[in-house]
Amino acid sequence: MQRTLLIIKPDAVKKRVIGKIISMLEEHFDIKGIRMKKLTLDEAKRFYKVHKGKDFYEGLCEFMASGPSVGVLLEGEDVIKELRDFIGSTDPKKAKNGTIRALFGTDVRQNAVHASDSPASAEYEIPFYFPD
Ligand code: RTP
Ligand code: MG
Repeated sequence: MQRTLLIIKPDAVKKRVIGKIISMLEEHFDIKGIRMKKLTLDEAKRFYKVHKGKDFYEGLCEFMASGPSVGVLLEGEDVIKELRDFIGSTDPKKAKNGTIRALFGTDVRQNAVHASDSPASAEYEIPFYFPD
């Protein structure tokens, strides 16, 4: 069994589409936890530390700390890859029709959701929203 973390990012919370996104997730995956929280700037920087040094890093961290977000803990056999396919490409304009980012994303930064991309990143990321 795998666990993974999806985050409903601050742009999607502001758009009031938390319920729609959770409803889509619930149809396809097993949800094990949900928690709303506003990341501090320091937490956002640690969360996205793999991108440190890239031109979009600072703006990304400020965006992620700009308002409340919702962590969703999911569990399933191949859930990490399945969820990545389900959310679509980073750029909502390139994301396949019907994916969460195609439906709810605004631009390449404000793209509605995050999903862990490997078992190691899932184990690193889950405690930011689910410390126990
Ligand atoms: P995520 O980590 O949030 O699930 O997204 P991802 O794997 O699809 O994309 P990644 O390359 O890890 O980028 C992390 C987040 O940084 C923002 N971003 N902005 N050119 C830009 O301005 C740019 N590129 C990426 C997005 O919010 C992206 O999800
Ligand atoms: Mg990523």
